[in-house]
Amino acid sequence: MSVTQLLAGIEGVGRDPKRGGYSRHGFDRAELELREWFVAEAERRGLAVRTDRNGNLWAWWGQPGPDAIVTGSHLDSVPGGGAFDGPLGVVSALSAVDTLREHGFTPTKPLAIVVFAEEEGGRFGVPCLGSRLLSGAVDADVARRLRDPDGVTLAEAVAEAGLDPARLGRDDEALSAIGTFVELHVEQGRGLIDLGMPIAVADSILAHGRWRFRFTGEGNHAGATLLGDRHDPMVPAAEMVLAARIAASEVDDARATVGRLVPTPGGTNVIASAVDVWLDARAPDDARTRRVLDRIREMAAEAVAREGCELTVTEESYGDTVHFDTGLRDRLVGLLGGVPTLPTGAGHDAGILAAHVPTAMLFVRNPTGVSHAPEEYAEPADCETGADALAAVLGHLAG
Ligand code: GLV
Ligand code: MN
Ligand code: MN
Repeated sequence: MSVTQLLAGIEGVGRDPKRGGYSRHGFDRAELELREWFVAEAERRGLAVRTDRNGNLWAWWGQPGPDAIVTGSHLDSVPGGGAFDGPLGVVSALSAVDTLREHGFTPTKPLAIVVFAEEEGGRFGVPCLGSRLLSGAVDADVARRLRDPDGVTLAEAVAEAGLDPARLGRDDEALSAIGTFVELHVEQGRGLIDLGMPIAVADSILAHGRWRFRFTGEGNHAGATLLGDRHDPMVPAAEMVLAARIAASEVDDARATVGRLVPTPGGTNVIASAVDVWLDARAPDDARTRRVLDRIREMAAEAVAREGCELTVTEESYGDTVHFDTGLRDRLVGLLGGVPTLPTGAGHDAGILAAHVPTAMLFVRNPTGVSHAPEEYAEPADCETGADALAAVLGHLAG
């Protein structure tokens, strides 16, 4: 089945009429519907599906592990995200299995498609939650206590989805089954546009993390409180947004973003009592990422002192720079006829697994260069090129 046909099967799931695009978050209704769709597609292909302790789905062609060739991605999205980030890797994996079967291929190693849970952290805040839990990169107790914006804990959400929250955590059985992991993904930048090429092999991922800046002050009346009497946390929060831009611009190839800012209580005629500001900061290495963070903290602390407010900063997630296995990368480049290699500023489950097993990624050109937004796109012909490349890679690795 083609990638386009498979994507058409889920195009109506999780549409977000308010934000545009899709809102599909870990264990919410849309993501559960996508899981059911995946199970049906996998079973239709005779693949044996199981859900691991952390809610990741596995569809096996052959007996599970060890030394399995594993491919896949995720089905959740950012709020108001595009149709390709995540699902493209999953549907390309299904399509690649079809292609291998049409060619009469029988794997000599076990082969599996995995769907990782809550890759974007769009609901519980921690990105790559499924692969972090599986590999022990996040503490299970900390993860169980994560809350979504409605106050539902991860423990409650997984229980609702039929999993045992007590069993969340490092899964050595699942991890040791993976011999090699390959994730296909839509490109989230302009690298392939500039090169005029449809696909590439990944080279590296920026160091990146998320921090929550909580500014607290004094809630009060917007009309009756004189300016000199205010302790308005929105003022240092606003300064911090600008500080993020300044700090990132001072460090070579760094980025810092505030995409989420939540005042409490959030009324037009109310001076907020608290403002939560989520910072996403990235740079080519740990030292530069920390330098950006430290500079933002410094500027935020000065702004807080000026307004007589308080600030606490919590690290929500962090991952150092990933350099994908160079031997595997070069093998795939050769196998695919000398396709280019590209670095990326986006995080991926492949980046988490790269600390444990040989891991590679394939990127498919995105003609808009836009991602994490409804404009994210990939041409059908490029999608098929990507799925054919994935089939060739899986055939090579599992043959
Ligand atoms: C996920 O796509 C991220 O880079 O945040
Ligand atoms: Mn993403
Ligand atoms: Mn993704």
